[in-house]
Amino acid sequence: MFGAWIAPASAQGDAKRGEYLAKAGGCVVCHIEDRKDAVPYAGGRALKTPFGTFYGPNITPHPQAGIGRWTETDFIRAMRLGVRPDGAHYYPASPYPSYTKISDADLRDLWAYLRALPPSGRANQAHDLHLPFRWRFIIRMWKWLFFRPGPVAADPRVPPTVNRGAYLVQALGHCSECHTPRNFLGGPRRDRFLAGGKAPDGKRVPNLTPARLKKWNDAELKEFLLTGLTPDSDAAAETMDVVIRHTTSQLTPADLAALVAYLRSLAPLPD
Ligand code: HEC
Ligand code: HEC
Repeated sequence: MFGAWIAPASAQGDAKRGEYLAKAGGCVVCHIEDRKDAVPYAGGRALKTPFGTFYGPNITPHPQAGIGRWTETDFIRAMRLGVRPDGAHYYPASPYPSYTKISDADLRDLWAYLRALPPSGRANQAHDLHLPFRWRFIIRMWKWLFFRPGPVAADPRVPPTVNRGAYLVQALGHCSECHTPRNFLGGPRRDRFLAGGKAPDGKRVPNLTPARLKKWNDAELKEFLLTGLTPDSDAAAETMDVVIRHTTSQLTPADLAALVAYLRSLAPLPD
């Protein structure tokens, strides 16, 4: 399925660039235990959802506990197509419906970065899911209904900054995984893209289109994405605070400006 979307392997990825992309993608957020002195990328964060609890796996290059036996192609298939090396489908609790839009070059750099991490022997924990979600084959139906494999081409009608921002929001930043509402089957509602939804834990997530964000000027919006503080000195709630700490506050000033320019360019959708 979807084989045509994988370009043949070429040049080696750049681990240094990959480190930055991993930050822009917030990879560590789910692939680390929720305690002090936890090993980054060794897995363990519990992700509570209506379907049960998922545990981010170990993605360090340990041959048994991690993904040390994978090839670059295995990695690109996992990210682009949501498919495990043995052919089983990943749950969309892993944000591959967004990561599928990451470019081939960026996926290679991410792979080079993960390969260079110190291997950790931390064993994976099985997901704790309700029936019928324990059956991985039902993901196939979800994907058939809602999954559109990438990558996506830049839009020639908009300035390069806005295209860069779109890539940071839609692909790496996976902002829509929480900020876009879902239908009753858990599929994203394209007509309400970024218009506010529910986090996997059921908490309300605000609208990111100009209908709501016009209340802040660019400096205020950037301040929030860097520090989690609003103009009234309120702090962002935990779910977004984690995204700010690991993702948006780590962006270069040019990328942060691009992200804001893209949010400003969205069609305003009412709450
Ligand atoms: C919102 C949480 C979340 C984020 C953020 C996230 N992942 Fe994951 N990832 C998961 C979950 C959950 C799984 C397991 C899915 C399953 O078992 O079906 C997973 C699986 C994987 C796997 C497959 C591991 C295996 O053993 O099969 C890889 C590789 C991976 N993620 C890499 C990444 C990279 C690279 C990033 C950043 C670009 C990232 N992840 C960000 C939650 C996340
Ligand atoms: C894991 C879920 C999740 C992800 C992913 C996520 N957000 Fe959020 N976001 C939230 C929640 C929850 C809030 C509400 C925080 C609060 O009430 O303090 C929020 C609030 C915000 C706000 C403040 C809006 C307002 O009017 O108060 C902005 C701006 C924002 N997010 C931008 C982003 C961007 C940009 C991304 C992608 C880089 C992103 N978010 C990814 C959950 C998420």
